[in-house]
Amino acid sequence: NPCFSLSSRVQPDPSGSETCVCLQVEKHLEPFRLSLEKLQDVSARLRKDMLRGLGKHAHHRAAVKMLPTFVRATPDGTEKGDFLALDLGGTNFRVLHVRVLEEEQRVLKMDSQICAIPQEIMLGTGEKLFDHIAACLAEFLDSQKLRGQTLPLGFTFSFPCEQKEIDKSILIRWTKGFNCSGVEGEDVVRLLKEAIHRRGDYDIGSVAMVNDTVGTMMSCGYRDQSCEIGMIIGTGTNACYMEEMKNVKRVEGEDGRMCINTEWGGFGDDGSLKDILTEFDEEVDKTSINPGVHTFEKMISGMYLGEIVRLVLLKLTEEKLLFKGCPSEALLTPGSFETKFISEIEDGLENAKKILTKLALDWDLVDACVARLVCDTVSSRSARLCAAALATIANRIRTNRGLDHLKTTVGVDGTVYRKHPNFSDELQAAVRLLAPKCDVSFLISEDGSGKGAAMVTAVAQRLALQSRLLEDSDGEDEEEEEEEEKANI
Ligand code: BGC
Repeated sequence: NPCFSLSSRVQPDPSGSETCVCLQVEKHLEPFRLSLEKLQDVSARLRKDMLRGLGKHAHHRAAVKMLPTFVRATPDGTEKGDFLALDLGGTNFRVLHVRVLEEEQRVLKMDSQICAIPQEIMLGTGEKLFDHIAACLAEFLDSQKLRGQTLPLGFTFSFPCEQKEIDKSILIRWTKGFNCSGVEGEDVVRLLKEAIHRRGDYDIGSVAMVNDTVGTMMSCGYRDQSCEIGMIIGTGTNACYMEEMKNVKRVEGEDGRMCINTEWGGFGDDGSLKDILTEFDEEVDKTSINPGVHTFEKMISGMYLGEIVRLVLLKLTEEKLLFKGCPSEALLTPGSFETKFISEIEDGLENAKKILTKLALDWDLVDACVARLVCDTVSSRSARLCAAALATIANRIRTNRGLDHLKTTVGVDGTVYRKHPNFSDELQAAVRLLAPKCDVSFLISEDGSGKGAAMVTAVAQRLALQSRLLEDSDGEDEEEEEEEEKANI
């Protein structure tokens, strides 16, 4: 193993004695290593924060927002019809035409189109953003010959929103590099509809707003009805799950369940994770476009992992533990170490060598091994923190239902989870330790943000239809009762 040579590199330390490089490297990596006890402690803190977020009044101050989604049921297999779906919140914006087939219990993506969102739109005015979305949708309707049909639309908008109804959703704040003016605090459905009306050349049917976690849960729910958790580990991170209505104090009603969008990315925004933040996390936060918010997300998700690794490599270079003490221009440039490099480097030493060369670093074998160790340490922490959060949710569902043992499925998506060579194994192993009374299965979502959004819209339509039928039959019952009363008189 060439990495054995790591322990053979020695360096003088200030006291004059020689110290093995790996010990000095380890000193910098140690704060990333979270013991099982620490993870249990993190999980216990999240449990408390989730309770605060669910509270009727306490939620105003809660770091973990626990947002009601107005999704009250997972699919039952009777949903059907044609839908449009919009997906905004990852790296691209997509428009889709989706068909839900009842007989075959299948969701078909008929067609889809990707539209780039240029940086100037991501950071421009809200009006420009929604005009851009409406224009992409118009182009798609034309290409699919769908103009003229007013199809229901599922809008996957993957940012924290205070949802008032399934079709009324106020953006709390932008995340993941978006920062369009005039949208925070506004109803996103209204902004979309206004942009469509400004054009005046097509219309859409009813709209259902969906967070990507919810779409992910729903798209898996069609295949596996025990799927009651949705999780994303991609550009951002978040999870949703089915909570008992009686615990959702902000929404009227005690019966049944509602899907809660936890927005766990905000965990730690009140300082509760201070003890586990490293100097590198603090730097990433400080230089982000939203300092002080989404603390947990910044330790975990794809938008930030590469930058954390870059900062660690830079520190080790400054300490002359790497690259003969010479950083390259690339290593000095924020954002230059892409998160996908982490997966590639961990996948094999040859990849590590190629990437270090690409970054114009003067590396030797020991450097390549250390770089791999850094990547592994940062991605492991991410997987284990996600596991702690997911275990909190699974444990909560189990105690909510008074069960000794819970069997449940998590619908999951996101580039970090999908593409990293051992992220999913590490996450699952840690969940088993942190939620020993839960048997958690993982189902990779097939296009949750597209098909799932259609599914949410379809379920909302089914429930609306059912409640209309119920009202009608209530009406009939009332009429019958009145007739009976009259007859008695
Ligand atoms: C957003 C969430 C979203 C997650 C994953 C976060 O930045 O706040 O709403 O679900 O990213 O896309």
